[in-house]
Amino acid sequence: MNRRSFLKNAGIMGAISAFPSIVPSICVSGCRHAEAAIGMAKRKYGPNDLINVGVIGQGRIAITMDMPLLINYTGKARIVAVCDLDPIRRANGKSFVEKKYNEKLKVDDYRVDAYENFEELLARKDIDAVMICLPDHWHAIVAVSAIIAGKDVWLQKPFSQTIGEGRIIANLAKKYHTVMQVGSWQRSNTQFHDVCELVRNGRIGKIAKVEVGIGLDKAGGSSTPMPIPTGFNYDKWLGPTPSEADGAFYTETRVHTQNIKRVGDRPGWIQMAPYGWGMITNWGAHHLDIAQWGLGFEDSGPNCVSGSCEWMDTTGGKLWNVHTTYDLHYFYPGNIDLHVCNQYPMGVKFIGENGEWLYCMRGAVKVTPSDPDVPANGKMQPLMASKNKLLEPIANPTVKLKEPEVYDGKSARYNTSDHWGNWLDGIRRDDPDYTVTNAEHAHRSTSICSLGNMCMKTGKALNWDPKTERTGDADADKLLKPFERGPYSIANVLKANGLDIKKFA
Ligand SMILES: NC(=O)c1ccc[n+]([C@@H]2O[C@H](COP(=O)([O-])OP(=O)(O)OC[C@H]3O[C@@H](n4cnc5c(N)ncnc54)[C@H](O)[C@@H]3O)[C@@H](O)[C@H]2O)c1
Repeated sequence: MNRRSFLKNAGIMGAISAFPSIVPSICVSGCRHAEAAIGMAKRKYGPNDLINVGVIGQGRIAITMDMPLLINYTGKARIVAVCDLDPIRRANGKSFVEKKYNEKLKVDDYRVDAYENFEELLARKDIDAVMICLPDHWHAIVAVSAIIAGKDVWLQKPFSQTIGEGRIIANLAKKYHTVMQVGSWQRSNTQFHDVCELVRNGRIGKIAKVEVGIGLDKAGGSSTPMPIPTGFNYDKWLGPTPSEADGAFYTETRVHTQNIKRVGDRPGWIQMAPYGWGMITNWGAHHLDIAQWGLGFEDSGPNCVSGSCEWMDTTGGKLWNVHTTYDLHYFYPGNIDLHVCNQYPMGVKFIGENGEWLYCMRGAVKVTPSDPDVPANGKMQPLMASKNKLLEPIANPTVKLKEPEVYDGKSARYNTSDHWGNWLDGIRRDDPDYTVTNAEHAHRSTSICSLGNMCMKTGKALNWDPKTERTGDADADKLLKPFERGPYSIANVLKANGLDIKKFA
């Protein structure tokens, strides 16, 4: 059932046309609620129609990557609204987008609306799609709200903060026929794509091991409280995580810098639980995604995980608390050992039973200021192999990872370099399977990252059943649950829209 027929069956299309000014009941914190679940009728795009996009979150990744790249597609989309809780970042995001479009379109009056609350942006019926560029602890509530509001969704990686949240997002996306793309953009980079396709077509025989390095976080941050900046709704920033009263005092190193010139800096929360889990979900959502894609387990996962880590030193007034070193083994059917260890260089190395190997990493691609520098000595090329011959393309691969037609009807080889355009084309085609990191794949990739975190947190070796998405260990399974606090809860969002969380969990 697609989104239009779902809404029709739910009697919602009638409600929308009878009450054109009705506000979708997507609010988590005090806005008006409509009585029934309301999504938007799906728009049919004519050849010259532009997709109207709202961007939620105006921090590092929105300003340095997602918005500049999306703005390039002037023939396909327009950013029409931005949103951020932080007034300085909200104003900066608005002027950034207006300036960029004025330059690109050679006009001087391009305007976007700026919202403090994402609920208001989602309530706009003229907005077709949203990019969610928020800290990880906010991904699930906003993604769920956006899907229910009928938007197509770009969601930054990791897909969710807990596996339970991810399952709900993926199930809802399927039900509502949402075209999703997740920010694990390495899938659209040639070297990662090529290696995965070579591996899946047997170039190095049966895989025995995959070695993955995801970098190393360092201790830091300051545990000295600071005054909350004027106009910044810090309680909402904390959202579904513990409140100030529960000890989450405000400091820039928990949140992000107030110096707008440094908006491109790595925010503090990214190395601070429960907002981020550290490198395991941060770069894990890139490299473990590639490992699982190359192994052909993108719709399922491993059978178990075991290993250990060291936690950040929080003595001497330091705040950050996620893992530093890590040494995790995931075992997949066929006895494949996925070994994630800080001793390995950044990247993914597939090793066959015969000892041959293929390796991929970003190489010279530096997307955000925090990406590692590429060594000048020529080591760590984006694509390497135990023998150069192994890198030769396969003429007619049996396993084709992605071979979409391009939107203009001309044939394309593979969609290997256009993650942002792939989302826009998926939206125009109304095809959730068109995107290279669709909701189910992204959920499965983020699940292994979260599972590694659960193993490190509990200190236990864990079984994993990819069907039930449970470990069977009571302590670990508690960590699967969605985060919630007061009004900040997926269950609330669903309930306010007449939906029962049990049907999607
Ligand atoms: N794909 C990639 O290569 C890549 C790289 C870096 C970061 N990321 C991901 O991008 C996301 C954003 O990371 P970032 O570094 O830009 O973080 P950031 O902290 O710099 O930006 C997030 C912004 O969201 C705002 N915000 C928080 N809660 C909000 C809410 N409820 N409503 C409105 N605004 C809210 C904050 O005020 C902040 O400005 C994260 O999920 C991160 O993991 C992806």
